[in-house]
Amino acid sequence: MKHEPINILLVDDQPGKLLSYEAMLSGLGENLVRATSGREALSILLKMDVAVILLDVNMPNMDGFETAEIIRGHPQFEKTPIIFVTAVYTTDIERLKGYGLGAVDYVYVPVVAEILRTKVSVFVELNRKTRELQQLNLTLEQRVADRTANLEQEISERKRVEEELRLSGERLAQMTRQLIAAQETERRRLAGELHDELGQICTAIHIKLQQAKLVCGPAAESHIEDGIEIVHQAIQRVREMSLDLRPVMLDDFGLVAAMKWYFEVQKKLTGIPVDFQVQTSGAVLPPDVNNTCFRVVQESFTNINRHAQAEHVRVELHQDDDEIQLVIQDDGVGFDGESARLRSLEGHSMGLFGMQERVELLGGQFTVESRPDQGTRVVARLPLPETLASRLCGSGFA
Ligand SMILES: Nc1ncnc2c1ncn2[C@@H]1O[C@H](COP(=O)(O)OP(=O)(O)OP(=O)(O)O)[C@@H](O)[C@H]1O
Ligand SMILES: [Mg+2]
Repeated sequence: MKHEPINILLVDDQPGKLLSYEAMLSGLGENLVRATSGREALSILLKMDVAVILLDVNMPNMDGFETAEIIRGHPQFEKTPIIFVTAVYTTDIERLKGYGLGAVDYVYVPVVAEILRTKVSVFVELNRKTRELQQLNLTLEQRVADRTANLEQEISERKRVEEELRLSGERLAQMTRQLIAAQETERRRLAGELHDELGQICTAIHIKLQQAKLVCGPAAESHIEDGIEIVHQAIQRVREMSLDLRPVMLDDFGLVAAMKWYFEVQKKLTGIPVDFQVQTSGAVLPPDVNNTCFRVVQESFTNINRHAQAEHVRVELHQDDDEIQLVIQDDGVGFDGESARLRSLEGHSMGLFGMQERVELLGGQFTVESRPDQGTRVVARLPLPETLASRLCGSGFA
């Protein structure tokens, strides 16, 4: 690699000696700068970066020692190496004086070209390495500064994205809450209409057919009886659909009554008995907790009927001071949770995901434990807000 030439300052009042130094050092390929007095040397130093100074001791006006003293006194040059060249000052005392003034070496006249070249080249190399090191340091500092700036930018960008995510998560949760509330209201309305409107129309038809049966001739009687049976089934179906949409007992008699009724209906439909274990204080639960527990039961039973091939189902409802825990356990075929999760992520199934969503919206935890041939256990734990509030009061947050 080609190096940029480095400045070597040659100071001597005799032009002939300067010429001979130049001849000796030209082979180094560096930039040789001449000065014929100490004063000129100082002004050159102020203008350029010099790697080493070759300084004649014996000069008129300002000798080499004085020049060296002034150079050393300047903070910018206190480390610039000075090699004294002398023919006259050769005693130890004078050499010591030279070293005391910061000389790095002493060369005596007659100067041996090879020795001078070697000595000077050491300092030239040192200077070059120092510059390279400084350059490397600068580059490193710049890279560290750039990387730090990038990191700071990345961090603030990440924080911004996280904040946006948090806000959209909150918005989504709020929308889901509203959606669930609207769904419950709509189900309640539909259940009412089914029961009141369609149910009454069917009942009226039922009465009319019974009246018709009394006055019709024998030819029509069996048809009318078939009609009465069909209307009877329709009334039953309307009632079931209405209750399935929104069991009135959930509003009127609470969760336990609604669950008992539901298990009776299930047993009639599927023949699977339900072992229902209840342990609650009987306290009235908040409507959203009621609804969520009931919908988890409904969805779990839909899954059991569709997928489990179970023979027994056990349901536990356990309420203590601060939470309600609902467990639905079947002894059916079970399933692989990971593939069900993937199917759910691909949008093929919503049941488990919907239950989890509802439970977590109320600050609860939802878990499903299942393995092929080992049955399925659905657990929903929901905090009870009143007790949470009273706890906060107790801990001085009121
Ligand atoms: N009790 C269970 N016994 C056996 N497999 C079950 C049970 N519950 C869920 N699964 C399995 O988990 C999968 C996901 O259930 P999930 O309720 O999320 O969806 P789905 O019932 O298939 O469809 P839907 O969206 O109509 O509920 C089911 O397809 C089924 O393979
Ligand atoms: Mg399902």
